[in-house]
Amino acid sequence: MTGTSITSVRGRRVWDSRGRPTVEAEVAVSCGIVGRAIAPAGASRGSGEAMELRDGGTAFGGQGVDRAVAQVNGPIAALLERRDVADQAGLDAAMIALDGTPDKSKLGGNAMIAVSMAALHAAAGAARVPLWRHLADTIGATPRLPMPMIQIFGGGAHAAGRLDVQDFLMVPLAADSFDHALAICAEVYASAGKIMADAGKRSGVADEGGWWPNFDTNEEAIATAVRAIEKAGFRPGEDVGIALDIAATELRQGGGYRLRREGKTLSGDEMIAMLTGWLKAYPIVSIEDPLAEDDWDATWRFTAGAGQVQVIGDDLLVTNEMRVRRAVATRAVNAVLIKPNQAGTITETLAALQAARDGGLATIVSARSGESEDATIVHLATGWDAGQLKVGSFARSERMAKWNEGLRVAEALGAAAFAGRKALAPL
Ligand code: PGA
Ligand code: ZN
Repeated sequence: MTGTSITSVRGRRVWDSRGRPTVEAEVAVSCGIVGRAIAPAGASRGSGEAMELRDGGTAFGGQGVDRAVAQVNGPIAALLERRDVADQAGLDAAMIALDGTPDKSKLGGNAMIAVSMAALHAAAGAARVPLWRHLADTIGATPRLPMPMIQIFGGGAHAAGRLDVQDFLMVPLAADSFDHALAICAEVYASAGKIMADAGKRSGVADEGGWWPNFDTNEEAIATAVRAIEKAGFRPGEDVGIALDIAATELRQGGGYRLRREGKTLSGDEMIAMLTGWLKAYPIVSIEDPLAEDDWDATWRFTAGAGQVQVIGDDLLVTNEMRVRRAVATRAVNAVLIKPNQAGTITETLAALQAARDGGLATIVSARSGESEDATIVHLATGWDAGQLKVGSFARSERMAKWNEGLRVAEALGAAAFAGRKALAPL
C-alpha cells in the first residue's frame, strides 16, 4: 500500500441551495488525507447530460438520493478501495465501466461526479499542493484566474418562468485582475438592485442570486442591465459587457420557440432575427444556447451571422467530447460551457475542455442552478486555465463561496495571473 492508496469511499445525503437532496462523497487515502465534494444539480438540463439517480416517489418531490448514496457506499466503494488516488483517469474509467450505460443511469451521474471530484481533492491533498496547482501540473497548464461572468437578473427555469430568457449577466471587460473583476460586478449588481427598488420592482432574488426579473419583456431586462452598468459608473460594452443565456431548449415547442411572457411563438429563423436584433441594439458580448439543443443548423446560422460575439454551447454540447468535436468541425458555436456533472467524471470533463481548446473554441467552466459550498469548479477553471467562469450571481453563499475561493487562489498566484477579456471568443 502506498501513501496514495484509497482506504475508503463514503457517500452521504446533504442538501443543495434549493433545499433539495444531493450527494456528498469522501475519499480517504492511506496517508490520512480525505477529499470531499458535493454534486451540483441543474434545472434546465440538456437531454444529453449524465443522468442523476433520484429516488422518485413522494418524498422530496421525488428528488431523494438514497439510491445514489447507496451506489457510492456499495459498488463504487468496493471498486475504488485499494486503488491509487493519483490515477484519476483510471478511477474514472473503472466507474464508467462498472456503470456500463451510455447515460450513467446505473450508478448515477450525481454519485459518480461527487466521487470523481472527491478523489481529485484527495489526490491534491496527498501531493500536498493546492487543487488548482495539482490540476495545472497534471496537464502542464499555466494556472490563471478566469474572467467571471456574473448574473444580474435570473429568469427562465430559475424564476418560475417570470421571463423567457434564463440569464442576464455581465462580463467585467475592464478588469485587470480577478479581485478587480469582482469589485466591478459588485457595483453593477448593487446598482441593478437599486434601480429595481426605486421602480418598486424589487422582490428578492432567483435561484442563482440574480434579482427576480419583474419585467414585462426580455428586452426591458437587457435595457435595465445596461442602465445598471451606467449608473455604477461604467461604460456598457467597453468596461462591462452584457451576456445572455437564452437556454432556448426550455422554450422549444414543436419545431418553434414559445416566448410565453411575450405571447408569441417564433420559428428558428424568427428567433435568429430577434436575437440578432438584440446584438445590434445592446452591448452584448456573449450569448449562450441561442437555439435549442436539437437545432444545430439554426445555431450554426445564428453564429455565422453574429459577428464578433461569443456564442456558447451548453445544452447543445453537454460537456461531451464528441459533441464538442462536432462543434469544432461545424463551427456551430465558438465557445463551450464546461459543467462537470453534465459529463459525470473529471476525466470526461477535461476531455471536453481539451477538445474545445484544441479546436480553437473558448471555454467557460460553469456551476449549476442547484449548488452548495463546494468550490471545486474554481480550481478547475484556474488550474486548467479555462479562461472564464460562470457561477450565477453575486449573492447567496453557494455563489459567494466560489468567488471568495477565487480570491484566495488569486492571492497565492498573484494578481497578474488573470485571463482577462482576451479569454472571450472569438479568440
Ligand atoms: P441549470 O442552468 O444549472 O439550471 O441547468 C444553468 C445554465 O443553463 O447555464
Ligand atoms: Zn445554459
